[in-house]
Amino acid sequence: MCALDIERIRGETPGIVVSTHLLASGSALMPQSVVDAVVGHTLLEAQIGGYEAQARQADALDRVYRLVANHIGASAREIALMENATVAWCHAFYALPLKPGARILTCEAEYAANYVAFLQRAKRDDLKIEVVPSDETGALNVAALKDAMDEDVGLIAITWVPTNGGLVNPAAEVGKIAQAFDVPYLLDACQAAGQLRIDVAALGCDFLSATGRKFLRGPRGTGFLYVKEKWLSSLEPAMIDFFGAPWVAQDRYALRDDARRFETWENSYALRAGLGAAVDYADQIGIDLIAERVGLLADKTRSHLAEYPQITLRDLGSTKCGIVSFSIGGKDPHLIVQHMADSGFAIGVSYPSTTRIDSERRNLPTMLRIAPHYYNTEAEIERAIEHLSRLP
Ligand SMILES: Cc1ncc(COP(=O)(O)O)c(C=O)c1O
Repeated sequence: MCALDIERIRGETPGIVVSTHLLASGSALMPQSVVDAVVGHTLLEAQIGGYEAQARQADALDRVYRLVANHIGASAREIALMENATVAWCHAFYALPLKPGARILTCEAEYAANYVAFLQRAKRDDLKIEVVPSDETGALNVAALKDAMDEDVGLIAITWVPTNGGLVNPAAEVGKIAQAFDVPYLLDACQAAGQLRIDVAALGCDFLSATGRKFLRGPRGTGFLYVKEKWLSSLEPAMIDFFGAPWVAQDRYALRDDARRFETWENSYALRAGLGAAVDYADQIGIDLIAERVGLLADKTRSHLAEYPQITLRDLGSTKCGIVSFSIGGKDPHLIVQHMADSGFAIGVSYPSTTRIDSERRNLPTMLRIAPHYYNTEAEIERAIEHLSRLP
């Protein structure tokens, strides 16, 4: 595909005819090629057995590492395939040696799964968590981050695109600071993958985690971790098994020399095949075209929502992404989601407890969330918002 062919893309997306799905930030509609990859591998397992299917598909399964690596500007050695973004993120976070008293710098929009891990390690390893304030647009304040740097900073860990709020944090600016101060940088790219270009060199991150099911349009239960080459000689996973760390003598294991040291022996190869097909599909369309269209549709969503006085937009940042957060005065968001679902529109909610620092600072209620993907049309968005505005 050289330009974005919406009709073709919609034709290749079986869910299009079932509902108007506007929640790529939850779990997007898979293209047919992803479904075929998952089902095809599962059928092969049913026909010849799981181990035999893996062996027969070994080259194709190995290609998944290269596809993911190419997609983010890494090498295949730097990729570990995971079952979700949280596991990927935790593998990097819990492996990092941090001395007592070390400071972890993070952002106001940090995701709950990451923050509870900070809290656990802070308690266990006597670390300090410090939230870098946001600037007037709501994005991480890069100048404040720079001011906060000193020799006690052990880690910078931020969310690039938060689960709510439309924000795109200045991830590459943060990377420059991390590199200048030689501090490890762990980037949560879960909500960015599949809607924004990821280039790990430009981002300057040491570790990056992402999920398959959101904007990448992969199957549920997939994700990946990027580990920069320089860490591969030294980073000891917090947990190992004999795939990532073969048992080479009775008293010894030897870590693999690539990022797969974070993996375990047993995996869903059908889902991995699906993840590969999803990355392949995104690359064939072109991530820049995807990003442009997602941005355009999200802007349309914001401007249509803004036409209704009862609706309050809750998005932050001067650079916004494909996630649109809002509330409708006095209405129960869960009921709204249910009413919309009953009429064939999939939208979602976003809970304050998923980004507690940001939510409490802004006194946010449980919000509604619309996240169109490139396969959606403006007409679908207009119909959804029109319907939303007429709900009792
Ligand atoms: C910003 C962010 N990080 C991490 C995650 C966790 O991803 P997963 O559910 O794949 O573990 C999410 C999930 O919504 C998220 O929004």
